[in-house]
Amino acid sequence: MSIKEKRDKSHESRETINILGIETSCDETAAAVVADGHIVKSSVIASQTKLHEKYGGVVPEIASRAHIENIYPVVSEAIQQAGVTKDDIDAIAVANQPGLTIALVVGVTMAKTLAFMWDKPLIAINHLHAHLQSAMLNQEHLQLPAVALIVSGGHTCLYECESPLELKLLGSTIDDAAGEAFDKVATILKLPYPGGPSIEKIAKSGDPNAIKFPRSMLGRDSLDFSFSGVKTAVLYYCRGQDMKGEDKVDVMSEQEIADIAASFQAAIIDVLVKKTKRAVKKVGAKTILLGGGVAANNQLREALRQMCESARPPLKLLVAPKKYCTDNAVMVAALAYHKYRRGLFAELSLEPKPTA
Ligand code: KG4
Ligand code: ZN
Repeated sequence: MSIKEKRDKSHESRETINILGIETSCDETAAAVVADGHIVKSSVIASQTKLHEKYGGVVPEIASRAHIENIYPVVSEAIQQAGVTKDDIDAIAVANQPGLTIALVVGVTMAKTLAFMWDKPLIAINHLHAHLQSAMLNQEHLQLPAVALIVSGGHTCLYECESPLELKLLGSTIDDAAGEAFDKVATILKLPYPGGPSIEKIAKSGDPNAIKFPRSMLGRDSLDFSFSGVKTAVLYYCRGQDMKGEDKVDVMSEQEIADIAASFQAAIIDVLVKKTKRAVKKVGAKTILLGGGVAANNQLREALRQMCESARPPLKLLVAPKKYCTDNAVMVAALAYHKYRRGLFAELSLEPKPTA
């Protein structure tokens, strides 16, 4: 049966389109059933944070092994919680890029197996584009064009967005991603993993103007990002320029650590907001979309809100709900709906791809 026939057969007697989404690109094993691209019927996430905590970052082999253990129970639970059977599922969607290949392959293999066994169309999803979809859930009348800022542990990207499927990359990081910088600075400050939430928490009692960390703008017109400089500046601040001095973090007061965290966070947010503003000007955007793990940061959300409010005319800001900022499968199934509608299906030979 052709893919089109499979699709027509699967929803010939129903109006609703149910998509099972699967996500295993990094350290969360996730599955979700979403109807019509926005009605969340279930969302199950098995987080591996505890497994990677002691290494201060994601260890690919450990992630892959945990995905293998978790994938079947997570997918089963998502179907059960949604109260559907395989007959109610119209398509299987999976994030197949970008990410850790040995992690992605687990979700891709599961999705291909289900698509084959259940005779359903398979939909390949770009994980970064899916993050953006989290900000568009329940948004019927988007004012376009929009500028989308995706800030995660692995990526920092600005896109011009004409529709959920029409994204043009405007800029991305040339070294560390924003979330990666949060995680590495948290390690320097000996704060718990994952670093973003730890830094945000302690920064609340710190002074964001205490230390003037560098803001790398990469030239007047650049929409690319560079965060390795600010991370190194924090390292030198704590360990001395030659890295030979004592690790001052051990003898710092909690207030000093809070001041470093707040000043670092302010530097990152400053750059993110200024670059987003540049992108808005360049494309004449009416809306800003914010997604990815770092989008859970309240200071960033607030800074962008203020920027949108003070713009003339004011800009609309759509931010992913916090539970869908970090990796999840709702965003995968939600974006897949748009591909389903356009008949954009993948072959069963689909492969994981590490790059975007
Ligand atoms: O999108 P995500 O779950 O995974 C990737 O696709 O990378 O993002 C995880 C990243 C981590 O680096 C984490 O430290 C960061 O998002 N993060 C935050 C916050 N919550 C998570 N960064 C800053 N502030 C937060 N509240
Ligand atoms: Zn992600």
